[in-house]
Amino acid sequence: MPNPKRNSIMEGAEKGKDKVVVLDFGGQYSHLIVRRCRDLGVYTELISYDIAIEELKRGIEVEEGEGKIKGIILSGSPFSIHDSSSPKCSYEILDLNIPILGICYGAQLIAYVEGGVVGEGRKAEFGRTELLFKDSELFEGISESGISSYRACDVVGQSPTINVWMSHGDVIERLDGADILGYTRNTPVAAFRINDRIYGVQFHPEVHHTEKGAKILWNFLYKICGCERNWTIESFVRDAIGEIKREVGSDGRVVCGLSGGIDSSTTALLVNKAIGDRLTCIFVDNGLLRKGEKEEVLNTFENNFKMKMLFVDAKERFLNELRGVKDAEAKRRMIGEVFINIFEEEAKKLGNVDFLAQGTIYPDRIESARSGSVASRIKSHHNVGALPEKLGLKLIEPIKNLYKDEVREVAKELNMPPQILNQHPFPGPGLAARVIGEVTEDKLRICREASWIVEEELKQSGWYNKVWQAFAVVGDDVATGVLGDARSLGRIVTIRVVESKEAMTADFVKLPYKVLESMSKRITNEVKGVTWVTYAISSKPPSTIEPC
Ligand code: XMP
Repeated sequence: MPNPKRNSIMEGAEKGKDKVVVLDFGGQYSHLIVRRCRDLGVYTELISYDIAIEELKRGIEVEEGEGKIKGIILSGSPFSIHDSSSPKCSYEILDLNIPILGICYGAQLIAYVEGGVVGEGRKAEFGRTELLFKDSELFEGISESGISSYRACDVVGQSPTINVWMSHGDVIERLDGADILGYTRNTPVAAFRINDRIYGVQFHPEVHHTEKGAKILWNFLYKICGCERNWTIESFVRDAIGEIKREVGSDGRVVCGLSGGIDSSTTALLVNKAIGDRLTCIFVDNGLLRKGEKEEVLNTFENNFKMKMLFVDAKERFLNELRGVKDAEAKRRMIGEVFINIFEEEAKKLGNVDFLAQGTIYPDRIESARSGSVASRIKSHHNVGALPEKLGLKLIEPIKNLYKDEVREVAKELNMPPQILNQHPFPGPGLAARVIGEVTEDKLRICREASWIVEEELKQSGWYNKVWQAFAVVGDDVATGVLGDARSLGRIVTIRVVESKEAMTADFVKLPYKVLESMSKRITNEVKGVTWVTYAISSKPPSTIEPC
């Protein structure tokens, strides 16, 4: 059952922006709907389907330009409307005087509530399907696209058609009192309108395979909801900086943990633009960083952006704490704890600090509500959640409503250098996630050097920007090698290169043998103590991306 944590719709740096909300019934494309609407220029949020009707009402009743909800989209769902456990929102939503668009399950829910007939699983449609539609505000401008001349289906007569993406088992068979705007061979009611305000489509306009899907969403946002086009990266940067200035005031001071990753770097830059030197960034070298990372972070933020950096060399402290710890979860917990302790000590030393800036992003908050999810587990390891309270600091999270690719756009807008902008994600526990078993200096050296070679070879062969993550893994396994004339034992290094969308699933990249060969050659030649190199060819699931 979907359960995005954030039900509040009146908070955040975007609180002045009028918006559209997507009620999440757990459909696979719920996030995609939000992203498409944002791409079209309207600030959009995903909220749980069971949001209290009063809260929605409050969001609708505010004045234009005050964060008003201008439209509601009901998402798809893996459930059938007839399942007793299927997610149902308050039916009063349909009585709110606001435009609504139901997509797939969302459309079936509207039909069900309005007394229509939703047939169970008899005529499922999956994939590309031809839709015959009638001119209406929702389909405005679509038949002029030239598609109307395409007449492949004899049932249609003169109706214009487009190919749409379907993924449903149940079918809306009848909906008396509604204006039927479109149908397919198997679905008599594939698009409908009730009272010029409530729309439903059985297909998925948010999916690329739906022809003119973006235009259909555009029609809903601008023609039907009357939204203003004001969600752009430039406007976000301007508003976020203004909001930080307002929140921090004229003499407030902020501290930020900067790891050099895209989220904390973007957060730090935004805060720096807003309050300059009153921000101090704490950068901790935990001894688990990639090769050259420390120099690059310091060079970028201290020399380039002239930001106030507090560098903490804590290599020994981390390695001492990690001595003898073999279990992956124990290592992660330990690293998280030591980091928090160091951060707390340093923030206290700074004294006179009022705020903690943190690079939380939108999926972190939505996903962390789903108990047991990968994301919630991930974030718990470098979570500084308890810190603001312990130190009496107020939290600032300027990018908490952004998706990762929006964060990248913001970073670009702020002139973030390409090494940081285009780098692969790197886990909070650093190289410890790639050293199997006990973390020793020798294994760290091998992992760091070999990973550097993997990245270099990918960059040289043009693969780096095409893959999600690439690194080397080292454990305690050894294999025989011949060094000169003598046989000797050395470590086995495993190369892991994966492609992925948002890390939820992943597959190994089918790299050319030539690239793998030169990685292997260089690792055995240049990294002392390595005799064998292997390539990890497992996908996620059942494997994970990082080995531990
Ligand atoms: P797994 O290994 O679970 O990783 O498939 C999925 C994605 O999350 C990253 N990852 C982490 N990130 N702290 C982080 O900040 C962690 O403890 C952590 N563990 C994994 C991983 O690099 C991949 O992108």
